[in-house]
Amino acid sequence: MPDRDPRESSVDVEIIGRVLSTLPDGDDHPYRSGPWRPQTVERAAVDLPVVGEIPADLDGVYLRNTENPVHPAISDYHPFDGDAMVHLVGFRDGKAFYRNRFVRTDGFRAEQEAGRALWAGVAERPEVALRPDGWGARGRMKDASSTDIVVHAGVALTSFYQCGELYRLDPLTLDDLGKSTWHGDFPARGVSAHPKVIPDTGEMLFFSYGKDEPYLHYGVIDADDRLVHHTPVELPGPRLPHDMAYTENYAILNDCPLFWDPQALAAGRHVARFHPDLPLRLGVVPRRGTRVRWFEAAPTYVLHWVNAYEEGDEIVLDGFFQGDPEARGGTFPGDRRYARVFRMLSLDGMQTRLHRWRLNLATGTVREERLSESITEFGMINPGCAGRSYRYAYASTGAPGWFLFDGLVRHDVRTGAEDRYRYGPGVFGSETAVAPRVGASDEDDGYLITMTTDMTADRSECLVFDAARVGDGPIARVALPERVSSGTHSTWAAGATLPGWRATDDPLGAS
Ligand SMILES: [Fe+2]
Repeated sequence: MPDRDPRESSVDVEIIGRVLSTLPDGDDHPYRSGPWRPQTVERAAVDLPVVGEIPADLDGVYLRNTENPVHPAISDYHPFDGDAMVHLVGFRDGKAFYRNRFVRTDGFRAEQEAGRALWAGVAERPEVALRPDGWGARGRMKDASSTDIVVHAGVALTSFYQCGELYRLDPLTLDDLGKSTWHGDFPARGVSAHPKVIPDTGEMLFFSYGKDEPYLHYGVIDADDRLVHHTPVELPGPRLPHDMAYTENYAILNDCPLFWDPQALAAGRHVARFHPDLPLRLGVVPRRGTRVRWFEAAPTYVLHWVNAYEEGDEIVLDGFFQGDPEARGGTFPGDRRYARVFRMLSLDGMQTRLHRWRLNLATGTVREERLSESITEFGMINPGCAGRSYRYAYASTGAPGWFLFDGLVRHDVRTGAEDRYRYGPGVFGSETAVAPRVGASDEDDGYLITMTTDMTADRSECLVFDAARVGDGPIARVALPERVSSGTHSTWAAGATLPGWRATDDPLGAS
């Protein structure tokens, strides 16, 4: 690969929007500066400069949601509060294009009009909110819709971890398509982040949680965006589930022993505490069923599952076991004022390791095993293997003390082998998506896509790896028009699943 600065190539960048920001000049908040410096400009560019070669059989879009605040918090900002900005890098015919847009949520629009924050963030007490309404399981929060992004029925959906609306975007242009209504059945309590889109059936599984009994609901949307199944799930009290898993026949919910301290909650305070005396409970329910069967396992909190599948009498469930869910042994390398809250954002603080739970449907027992000693999280798989036996998980390593990804690991969950790549000093990646090669049949016959925030060179790139050769480094580096902020979740959508993908020579002209 030639060692050439891709910015030396000329590229036409169209500015398509600017947004009011009231953040201070020289903002020194650790999660609004450096690699988390937010953006205010929306851009579009085609035929991006490339170092290396974009494979002709890489065909589709990489979509990444980021937390991108435009106003100071009322008192204490936390990165999970930031407004959603979606970045798109599309690959077609060996070329790449880019677009970024804010998600114009109801809260975002109201705060643009007010010129300031109106709702309380997760590190603030709800009473500081200037508005009595709001969203989120906790209440009086802004539905920032900045946690996850998936593509269902040809539409990109952004979501919020504390439960909120699903905001619909055109997956090519990122144009605003309004909110999901599910033909009038969208639940008032909202839905949590990490709905699961099932490629084979076009269904989408989801859950919602909250402070009112029964504390959890599970449901299924069909390929026509209709709510076809919705059932309450009784929990012992308010819980903080973040993710779910599924197999060919079952959905897997969870009741982790990290939840709001009941005494503090009775006094109106929301303090997440780990209860090591309580088990992790895993709830298995037929995908269209109502009866949940609970399995107990060693106490931990699981932020993200990787995959699950059925094998004989067992359900095999892989995810990231947290050795220290409250990150009591964690540190925050930045300003000590923020240490208590922000130490819980780092992978080394939470001690996240790839783990396997085997739930025996015949005996009701659980066997567990650690799959890796490495601290990784945010694991992605070939989407064609979701719910099925699989071999490879591609996960991120964390910069010590920070919510930043400094490298990539391919875990072979059969052999335990690991293949690593580090982005380099001052370079941080995004959650890495797997893009199967067009026409591929093997699990690792494809590409890995990540987006960097490079503090050393003050730029961003989109990197393309051969999924089978992570350690060799990227096979293509695509220059982006601006250094982008770090963020949380991402997805890949194959061109064949996108309406209008080949309808125009200009992929951004579809609107
Ligand atoms: Fe998440």
